[in-house]
Amino acid sequence: MSDQPEPPRFYVTTPIYYVNDVPHIGHAYTTVIADALARWHRLLGHDTWFLTGTDEHGLKVQRAAEERGIEPLAHADATSARFREAWALLDITYDDFIRTTEPRHRAAVQTLLERIRANGHIYEATYAGLYCVACEAYYNEADLVDGEQCPIHLRPVEHLEEDNWFFRLSAFEQPLLDWYEAHPDAVQPAGKRNEALGLIRQGLEDISISRRALTWGIPVPWDPDQVFYVWYDALTNYITAIGYGEDEERFGRWWPAVHHLIGKDILRFHCVYWPAMLLAAGIEPPHRIHVHGYLLVGGEKMSKTRLNQIFPADLVEDFGVDGFRYHFLRDQPVGPDGDFSYEGMVARYNADLANNLGNLLSRVATVVAKKCGGIGPAPRPDSPLAAVAADALAETAAAWDAVQPSRALDATWRLIREANAHLEAHEPWKMDPGPAVEAVLGDALEVLRIVAILASPALTRAAPEVWTRIGLPGSPTEQRLPDAAAWGGYPGGLPVEKGAPLFPRRAADG
Ligand code: ME8
Ligand code: MG
Repeated sequence: MSDQPEPPRFYVTTPIYYVNDVPHIGHAYTTVIADALARWHRLLGHDTWFLTGTDEHGLKVQRAAEERGIEPLAHADATSARFREAWALLDITYDDFIRTTEPRHRAAVQTLLERIRANGHIYEATYAGLYCVACEAYYNEADLVDGEQCPIHLRPVEHLEEDNWFFRLSAFEQPLLDWYEAHPDAVQPAGKRNEALGLIRQGLEDISISRRALTWGIPVPWDPDQVFYVWYDALTNYITAIGYGEDEERFGRWWPAVHHLIGKDILRFHCVYWPAMLLAAGIEPPHRIHVHGYLLVGGEKMSKTRLNQIFPADLVEDFGVDGFRYHFLRDQPVGPDGDFSYEGMVARYNADLANNLGNLLSRVATVVAKKCGGIGPAPRPDSPLAAVAADALAETAAAWDAVQPSRALDATWRLIREANAHLEAHEPWKMDPGPAVEAVLGDALEVLRIVAILASPALTRAAPEVWTRIGLPGSPTEQRLPDAAAWGGYPGGLPVEKGAPLFPRRAADG
């Protein structure tokens, strides 16, 4: 037994995606950010848990299955597998993949809702309303476009009327406002927090949490003729997966210190309904909700109905896994909407990967072969690049901590650019073999070593490849920050291998 303090914990989640649709780059965007964050926290030595999964109940999935003429579970099995395939393709290192059709989830949902009912926040009433099946949500007439269309999907809403169970959301207006006041950083960025507060201040009405007309869902334990409304089922996944209702010790280890990553389309559910539900059950709301904008294609949100979806495999074929991950992390900052552009992706790939990083490695390896017999020299302790590397580490770390991957990678790449400038200033390829050339190359090799660690959350393939080519044993993912990024870690005396270009240049037309 040791009496070392336990490492900090990092619990990160993505939305669980609907199985009516196959994974496109919008789903991949959130999932790659979560994966890169999990990898960054593993580098810091944090005890990390990364959860993703699929949302498999509800009218929308039932109808998708009916259209295919198969049972909902068979449909869910097939589509959920497509998500796991996509995440394998993109090197996503989730620790748990939850499916809402699993028995563990049914148990957790029933326990949570029983608890809310026992606390007096659930009652029975008749509901009549306008429902968008694609959103799985009711709308007020005032929210509709042209008086009949859902504002998100621009499809007609349906009239639904039934007796069901209601959650007394109205009672949580003030408790939510108080909670947000006490936790001013809970929703990031600040603009999205204001949006959430705006929704609460508008006034909250009680909401129906069960469906009688639907069979594809989790039965209400005290009224088995009804199933829970899919959103109340889905949100619970975040606590199911860490043992809620089953292993209180494990649950207490991870909750409430969670980081939820979501798109702005589901802000209301995560920033209003979910914290209210938790308060109603006597559970602390989530520590952080990071809300990102839409990835637009031709200025519009991707959707099956608009036929403008782009799939991860199409881009991985052209840019590789690293090119895919790097582009979305670097070019689509978390917060604002961003327009996807193939040309932009080519430009970024060529500038940052082929030119900056690829060139640094190939230049260094070429000159080490010519001037140093292929053996990499050690860096100088007083190198001018040492301070640049220390700044890059500090800025990269601060940006990952703020969930701003774009800024984090920009800070890491500044170190690469400085190292290239250092080479151009000294032109080691023109020098004679000896201590002067060794000094310049040793510094550049040390930059490559540090960059391989700092870039590893984004570049899952190239980072270990750089590490190996400069002769280091093991892998950058086994290193521990901040110590591993301290200047001077490259020992020298290691064989440096040139190898094929890391990132062959791409033509603008693909
Ligand atoms: O809403 N741009 O699932 P969903 C950016 N099952 N992100 C996008 C995107 C785009 N164009 N398209 C999708 C659901 N996303 C529910 C969630 S959670 C308890 C239940 C990402 O399949 C983004 O993260 O519609 C968005 O919030 C999510 O996918 C919606 O996925
Ligand atoms: Mg959606």
